[in-house]
Amino acid sequence: MNAANPSQALEHAFAVLRENDRGTYTVPTKGLYPFQWNWDSCLTALGLAELDEDRAWTEIETLFAHQWPDGMIPHIVFHVPSDTYFPGPNVWGTNRPTPTSGITQPAVAGFAAKRLFDRAKDKAMAAARCRALLPKIDAWHRWFYENRDPHGEGLVAILHPWEAGRDNSVDWDEALAQVPTTGFAPYTRRDTDHANPAHRPTKAQYDAYMWLVEHFRALGWDNSRLHDASPFQVIDPAFNAILIRACTDLAALADELGEAEIAARNSAWAQRALPALDTLWSAESGRYLARNRVTDKLIDSQSIGGLLPVFAPIPAARCHAIAEHVQGLLKVLNYIVPSHDIGTAGFEPQRYWRGPVWLVTNYMIADGLRNASELAVADRIARSSLELITKSGFAEYYDPKTGEPLGGGRFTWTAAMVIEFLRAQEAELA
Ligand code: GLC
Repeated sequence: MNAANPSQALEHAFAVLRENDRGTYTVPTKGLYPFQWNWDSCLTALGLAELDEDRAWTEIETLFAHQWPDGMIPHIVFHVPSDTYFPGPNVWGTNRPTPTSGITQPAVAGFAAKRLFDRAKDKAMAAARCRALLPKIDAWHRWFYENRDPHGEGLVAILHPWEAGRDNSVDWDEALAQVPTTGFAPYTRRDTDHANPAHRPTKAQYDAYMWLVEHFRALGWDNSRLHDASPFQVIDPAFNAILIRACTDLAALADELGEAEIAARNSAWAQRALPALDTLWSAESGRYLARNRVTDKLIDSQSIGGLLPVFAPIPAARCHAIAEHVQGLLKVLNYIVPSHDIGTAGFEPQRYWRGPVWLVTNYMIADGLRNASELAVADRIARSSLELITKSGFAEYYDPKTGEPLGGGRFTWTAAMVIEFLRAQEAELA
């Protein structure tokens, strides 16, 4: 579906949201992803708010209704059965009342709640909905620092590539090579029924993904044991930066709503984490690098995970370096921001998180650059995003050289991000 002008684009985006709306939650796109995904939902709520504020809050509340007793918000909630996705509830075996996966995803909820609250037309409703959500989001943040940072260094580890939301990023290659790829049940992938296999993770990566799932399942999904028992423990700068931004935003929101303890706690987590995040900065790469906690080594991968920390309140000089880097990419690419730098090891323009452009990461980078007053580059990212949907519709991801649509079509969070970009454009023109 192409969209030639802003009002058409907006109508198309709303149509995609409505199509993927299941009443109290949205699915990322039908067929390929028939359940509720964690960070998709939180970011989608921003777009839904333009249609119906009440419905936007419900999106996040539905996700949080499936919080685990230990505080974790799972990455998938399997509300209704579907056989178009693998691995389904039986493979996860988490024994939750409504089945869920057993891992988490980037902590965007705190950011989304604050943004929804700040923009709410119905402030009384927003305050009431936030008051109920605050302790739950706070408990999730606590869960991260307790379970994924057992030595209190201020940085949390992901234990599965899917937790980062950037499933097959080059960032994980080295650490994933240490994960066994035998000794688990035979399986049949379903993603390659819906999308071109050349645009998806490889079989070897999938084998490692499945080994980790079975390993954690054998440990009863006991989060107090998983970290130390995992051969895959990676400190992703993007994942940490999103959590820091969420803690900062939750602290501000809690403060505004008179929840002093939640405010103090979240602000303290962010303050401890920021200097720790800075230890991942690489002057040579002009970006942050991931660290393999098992080997204690930085991972030399030129990916978007190192640029996304601009979403957090990092120092202005770092923001500026990231802005210059993104600007420089336009000399060699038609569309920004690629999930991996062209011309560096591992880049593949059409394979999922190894090169294609995704509108959600564009949105977070542009937001961070705007906060750092790097307005020209932020605007340029927004323009690139809108050019992509104009040319290629609401795809899951896009080739950064040609703009070709890739992966699933009629994608919910792509539509939500378009609504956000158009909203910012309108505000600027006003
Ligand atoms: C893919 C993406 C992940 C997203 C999910 C649903 O697994 O890598 O970030 O949450 O699809 O859209």
